[in-house]
Amino acid sequence: MCGIIGILGAKDVSQPIVEGLKRLEYRGYDSAGVATIQNGAVDRRRAAGKLNVLVDVLEKDPLPGIIGIGHTRWATHGAAIDANAHPHATETVAIVHNGIIENFRELREELTEKGRHFESATDSEVIAQLVCAYMSEQMSPAEAFRKMLSRIRGAFAIAAIVGADEDLILVARKGSPLAIGRGDNEMYVGSDAFALAPFTNRVTYLDEGDHAIVTRGGFEIFNEAGEPATRQEIVSSVGDALVDKDGHRHFMAKEIYEQPEVIGHTLSRYVDPTTGALHEAAHAFDFKSIDRLIISACGTAYYAGLIAKYWFEAWAKLAVEIDIASELRYRDIPYAENGGALFISQSGETADTLAALREAKSQGQRIAAVVNVPESSIARDADVVFPTAAGPEIGVASTKAFTCQLTTLACLAIAAGRQRGVLSEEAEGRVISALMETPRLLAQALQQEDKIEKISGDLANARDILYIGRGVNFPVALEGALKLKEISYIHAEGYAAGELKHGPIALIDEQVPVVVVAPSDRHYEKTISNMHEIIARGGRPLLISDAEGIKNAGEVWAAIEAPTVDPMMAPIVYAAPIQLLAYFTATTKGTDVDQPRNLAKSVTVE
Ligand code: AGP
Repeated sequence: MCGIIGILGAKDVSQPIVEGLKRLEYRGYDSAGVATIQNGAVDRRRAAGKLNVLVDVLEKDPLPGIIGIGHTRWATHGAAIDANAHPHATETVAIVHNGIIENFRELREELTEKGRHFESATDSEVIAQLVCAYMSEQMSPAEAFRKMLSRIRGAFAIAAIVGADEDLILVARKGSPLAIGRGDNEMYVGSDAFALAPFTNRVTYLDEGDHAIVTRGGFEIFNEAGEPATRQEIVSSVGDALVDKDGHRHFMAKEIYEQPEVIGHTLSRYVDPTTGALHEAAHAFDFKSIDRLIISACGTAYYAGLIAKYWFEAWAKLAVEIDIASELRYRDIPYAENGGALFISQSGETADTLAALREAKSQGQRIAAVVNVPESSIARDADVVFPTAAGPEIGVASTKAFTCQLTTLACLAIAAGRQRGVLSEEAEGRVISALMETPRLLAQALQQEDKIEKISGDLANARDILYIGRGVNFPVALEGALKLKEISYIHAEGYAAGELKHGPIALIDEQVPVVVVAPSDRHYEKTISNMHEIIARGGRPLLISDAEGIKNAGEVWAAIEAPTVDPMMAPIVYAAPIQLLAYFTATTKGTDVDQPRNLAKSVTVE
């Protein structure tokens, strides 16, 4: 996902803009740039690669100017080269853009026919060219900006500066977040509160379809209809969480080890530790009046939803339909009258999840959202928001957000069971007690790190790795495979253990490690039988189980011991070994653990 920063400063801005861009690195990017205005003219420095390349360029060729915009680009249209890096500019206008302009080709043809010259292969450049063209028709910068907005179609967050005015930044938001920050005789714009944190904690998010005129004296916001609008200013609390790795090599490691603490924070939002019962906060959504719950998300958040399906079925006897958001949004679903839909998203900005939410809402569904960013787009569009308390997650690979999503979802499934009268008070207490043990048990699981690091050294040479599990641990196998493939670049597949004989077992030979997620639960015997089928074909099983499960499993290639845990809570605790397995395999391979190639922290494009 791209990142945007803009500053109306009291002194030169290129350095603080780079500082702001550094706080957006976690989003994933492949080029960066800054533009400022000096003496009525636009000037730029851009560079493919990481921010340190741009810093070198700026050191060799400084960029003065007290008004500027900056950008980290995650390539959609056009390769990651200098010419395609933002800001895009004409002689009088510079812009930065996050999103996709869907009708850029027709606009590019129209402008080229009018004699305008394009320098990049990107969709974003049409924004600068349109504003410049309308200003040459004697429109003011704000009029030209509005006219441009009426012409483009797609998802965007845009910031623009124009040579004619050193006290003006124009911004707009549709599908990608954008915020305005208020400073002391300075003003800022940025993709989110994290980006603005070095400058201010007084932040105003634009609403969908808004645009704004920002000057050093303040700002005016206009809604999609062009009417003046007022948006709430919040005092953001993200602080300095982004820059500190607490002594760990990577943000991902820090976030893996934060899990016991942040799961505890999340639990405290929904469970009263003195009574051991749910807070009212867990009952904010009406599960009683619905016959079916739709759950949708992407990636790791989707796997959290898959696990929650087992919990809603078991504790609330509630039918769950779950699908990945990029599919759900296009299906012709027979939505139930007054049905319910639950969307899960760490960033709260994932384009497909947001689109699926809006489709379900348009079909009369009551919307709940489990998010880690309460001021995100998904949170703003939901009827009921259930925040996770994971804190900012910087590593692209989701870890603490996943276990905090699970913690929150478990509380919601318990609440649903209580509301629907199918979970007794005694059973609620029992399940919550098991849930309350997960922070301690996960911390215990993390103590296996040395053994896991050693095993990972062997995994790093594998070409293909399978993960298998049953019941609530089948999605754990899927998540383990995703973690491994996304940070170590090794091909990995998660499968239901019962599916092996229906094809995947053809893959098994001594070159293919198989991670077997099998706590001593009701599925243990069958899963261990599957494991022995693997061994009989020369496969190398890596068993993750509790002491009893490992003792009874017979000879295995390797084993990682997890604490004994309530079977329904295993996914929260077993997240630790599968995360560490992926992490140490990736560090053995030397890949970029926090910002893996080709990936973005939040996928705000479809
Ligand atoms: C997980 O490690 C990945 N980073 C990715 O699958 C992620 O979970 C997915 O893109 C959904 O993101 P969200 O939770 O912010 O919506």
